[in-house]
Amino acid sequence: MAKLSIITAPDPRLKLKAKPVGTVDTEIRQLMDDMLETMYAAPGIGLAAPQVGVLKRVLVLDIAPSGEPRQPLRVADPQIVWAADEDATYEEGCLSLPEHYADVARPAAVKVRFRDYDNALIELDAEGLLATCLQHEMDHLEGVLFVDHISALKRNIILRKLVKARKLAAADADA
Ligand code: NI
Repeated sequence: MAKLSIITAPDPRLKLKAKPVGTVDTEIRQLMDDMLETMYAAPGIGLAAPQVGVLKRVLVLDIAPSGEPRQPLRVADPQIVWAADEDATYEEGCLSLPEHYADVARPAAVKVRFRDYDNALIELDAEGLLATCLQHEMDHLEGVLFVDHISALKRNIILRKLVKARKLAAADADA
């Protein structure tokens, strides 16, 4: 396995739409494993392929609390086949928007159809944090970030801070 580097916003690559995988083969399985390793190292609870510069409809998740056994979920070509009418609001973060958080409302429960690690077609009923996390990662496959769900004012504040933090990090590296 290999750790991949995570792209942070603002970056035009995070705004692109990812392409379907079709079949989960050895190459996709390797990508899933590398993404999980990258996500655990970050650490984070979800990661989508566009965040590591791969425009494929692949994501990985693990919402098990720290200290408990890992429960990795490897997902290809996910589709929401049902969504609840009620919304739930969670404070979301993202490895591509480090150290920034905002409340985002999304359907409280979803049924998601996808291909798993063995290329089997799976239907998963998700609610709570898992439902939110799945929808957040699926957004990445459409080039959508959690800040696209909040006001333009709040979004611009976060993006400006990220640009500033990147410039400071670059200046430190030069010094
Ligand atoms: Ni994210």
